[in-house]
Amino acid sequence: MTTQQIIDLENQYLAPTYGRPGIVLDRGSGNYIYDLDGKRYLDFIGGIAVNSLGHAVPEIIGAVSQQAAKLMHVSNLYHTAPHAILAQLLVENAFESKVFFCNSGSESIEAALKFSRRWAFAEGGEAKHEIVSFENSFHGRTYGAISATAQPKYHEGFAPMLPGMVYLPFNDLAALDQTISKEKTAAVLLEPLQGEGGVNTAQLEFLSKIRELCDERNVALIFDEIQCGLCRTGKFFAYQHSGIEPDVMTLAKPLGGGLPIGAVMMKPHVADQLKPGLHGSTFGANPVVCHVATAVVRKMLSEGIADRAASSGAVLMDGLRSLQGRHSDIKDVRGLGLLVGIEFEGEVAGLVAACQEEGLLVGSAGTNVLRCAPALTIDQQHIDEALNIISRVLDSRDA
Ligand SMILES: Cc1ncc(COP(=O)(O)O)c(C=O)c1O
Repeated sequence: MTTQQIIDLENQYLAPTYGRPGIVLDRGSGNYIYDLDGKRYLDFIGGIAVNSLGHAVPEIIGAVSQQAAKLMHVSNLYHTAPHAILAQLLVENAFESKVFFCNSGSESIEAALKFSRRWAFAEGGEAKHEIVSFENSFHGRTYGAISATAQPKYHEGFAPMLPGMVYLPFNDLAALDQTISKEKTAAVLLEPLQGEGGVNTAQLEFLSKIRELCDERNVALIFDEIQCGLCRTGKFFAYQHSGIEPDVMTLAKPLGGGLPIGAVMMKPHVADQLKPGLHGSTFGANPVVCHVATAVVRKMLSEGIADRAASSGAVLMDGLRSLQGRHSDIKDVRGLGLLVGIEFEGEVAGLVAACQEEGLLVGSAGTNVLRCAPALTIDQQHIDEALNIISRVLDSRDA
């Protein structure tokens, strides 16, 4: 089939929930993707921060085929080894906790909200049900997740939202004290580094104050590390930059190396409130995806991928800041590790398209921020290539 035939078929048969560019991606290798017509693209969006080890990774391919040939699915009615091994690996590299597996980021948010409310119910009854979240957050597309996402554009036409959601400004200490309450608040939910909402880092004082109030008022602190966790920011988990631990943490995106998986890690006091039948998933912790995720995490740990993300991120940001010196419409370059945002005066959709035309795939975060979330395995050559393309695109726009 040709590119146009595939696009026509999609337009005819797929629900119109996405606006896609006019190319069809066909195969990937390392940090590059090729379209159906053989054109090569440097991948600086990585399937929205999913392909952290790149494309066609031998260890991932091996893990998929090995486990698929052995046992692919039995449901959670039975014990299997892969999810036990993966849970142990995650816990040993985080904090004392237990893990619930599901199939996506949004599902892990749903589970985190349910588990936190269940714990809060045991502590303070039904009144203690409020979930506090923050402006410009993004927590996913299911009802609980959009309700917790404090951006009106995701709510439009879908009202009413889940009751008990309270939205506060991000990085605003003053608002916290009046809102987080022992009697009413079940949980505070935030991304230590907001991705979708514009690549905004939670300040240390903000995180410390939230932790302090959650401890004082017996409230669960949930970190959404779906995008910023698992080496992306230059530490294995983003919370390790501050040393401030959550009670509950959600993971997804890069965990399955491209296969769908979500995970909720919760401290024992939250896990102790759960019992068989309270929550579940048919596919969650599927043996294939858990075996693959174990291979992903082991590779991340053994190859020092977090450190690589930290050093490559610093080089990329330096390069972008020197571009900022030459292009006055770049307002800011920010991020942590290899989650990098370039804020422009105006909308970035045209820039994203122009970069693609020049052979570079990047994304956006909100309307004005260009987002780079490449594989964490990129090296100097990839960074130079990306900077050259962005520079060329900006120069031709200015000309
Ligand atoms: C921080 C964060 N939370 C939750 C989600 C939702 O994850 P999913 O798309 O896998 O449901 C995303 C996805 O972009 C995300 O970036």
